[in-house]
Amino acid sequence: MSSFERRKFSINRNTGEPKPGRRFSIGGPSTQEANSKIHRQFRAAHEGHLPHAGLDATRASTGVVWCTERAAEYGFLDAPHEWANLGQGAPEVDDNIEGSFPRPKTLDISENSREYGPTAGIKPLREAVANLYNEHHRKDKPSKYTWENVAIVPGGRAGLIRIAAVLNNAYVGFFIPDYTAYNEMLSLFKNFAAIPIPLSEEEGYHIHPEKIEEEIARGTGVILTSNPRNPTGRVVQNPELAEIQDICRERATLIMDEFYAGYNYTSDCDGATISAAENVVDVDEDDVLIIDGLTKRFRLPGWRVAWILGPKEFIKAIGSCGSYLDGGTNVPFQEAAIPMLEPELVKREMVALQRHFRDKRDYVVKRLRDMGFVIRYVPDSTFYLWLNLEGLPGPISDGLNFFSHCLEEKVIVVPGIFFDLNPARRRDLFDSPCHHMVRFSYGPTMETLKKGCDGIERVVNK
Ligand SMILES: Cc1ncc(COP(=O)(O)O)c(C=O)c1O
Repeated sequence: MSSFERRKFSINRNTGEPKPGRRFSIGGPSTQEANSKIHRQFRAAHEGHLPHAGLDATRASTGVVWCTERAAEYGFLDAPHEWANLGQGAPEVDDNIEGSFPRPKTLDISENSREYGPTAGIKPLREAVANLYNEHHRKDKPSKYTWENVAIVPGGRAGLIRIAAVLNNAYVGFFIPDYTAYNEMLSLFKNFAAIPIPLSEEEGYHIHPEKIEEEIARGTGVILTSNPRNPTGRVVQNPELAEIQDICRERATLIMDEFYAGYNYTSDCDGATISAAENVVDVDEDDVLIIDGLTKRFRLPGWRVAWILGPKEFIKAIGSCGSYLDGGTNVPFQEAAIPMLEPELVKREMVALQRHFRDKRDYVVKRLRDMGFVIRYVPDSTFYLWLNLEGLPGPISDGLNFFSHCLEEKVIVVPGIFFDLNPARRRDLFDSPCHHMVRFSYGPTMETLKKGCDGIERVVNK
């Protein structure tokens, strides 16, 4: 078999026709190779010895990007204001939310910030993050976070990749469904084995402590989860969260992605956030890594400022691996983030956020129920609805078809299949437990949500 014949095949997205995967810089076999059986055999057994490995362009696109590309085929990029983009997981960013502090419009850029910053982040911001968690979650605890327990990272995804880069040779358990980017992140590094843990739809995709026990019994050494959970919009809270942390203590590392911690509607919008930081016994001994940032709960996705909290030793490694991965978070925005993390200000901000987003949740849940959608578990957190389409007529009862009918009405949602994290590409599309679902984001403004619900209503009525 020649190297040409071994090329990967993929599907042309526009025509649906199979097309040869393009591998750059790789020509056909030389005459010398074509005439030598042993060379051909060697080549067949050692693909890594191809003259140039080149690029693998199939790794480029994640779920939301793919959805936006499809929407572009229906004119989304030419007139985005006519559309309701309920696909991208982003909150509204304007200053119109009652009680929310106005975001800075200018930055005072210090001369110091022209230099390379430390890859673990600047010390005053690391201190501000530690102080926020101590005030909100560890007031009565003897063990407190310090700046050395915090690394500042350029956004959540960069943070997750930094964590993945320092993971040891372990089974890493992750849940299905969960945040789409875990898919790429878990297949990027080869130093650990990713193990899927499917959650039951009947139980509202709840993560039971017994499930964690089972995982640990099978040898899982690291557990990664968003909490509050993307895309289901449900949160694991105390006492179950504490129970899970007790089970994991001294047995497994917990990676808690708390990017939606602020979007908590379980305590009557009192501004409380749910965090694993509350149950950590010793900040340097409990293997709990917490990741959050300005992206969602401070409604600043463009700033690219996020943080990881955890034991000093891990944070040191996570901080320094920024030197070969991303180079660190831009310093002027780190400086501008410091005053935003004052604990009392954050508390007031969370109250405003929770009231506003709970109202939007209530609006979309009512609209969708009136259209006939069955929503068994009203989300208690995040700004997502994980919608089951099985009750809809056949042609729109799966995520991909529903998505494409929505595009005709200028509405973007995300087909559920993207949340079926499948890093080893083990499962066929039609076998996926997420095939009949879509994720609906009520992050955008009320005006956009109305437009989106009207569009979905037209799809359903058609
Ligand atoms: C669970 C979760 N974690 C992390 C992120 C990433 O945040 P960032 O935009 O800061 O990379 C997201 C964004 O959608 C998310 O849903």
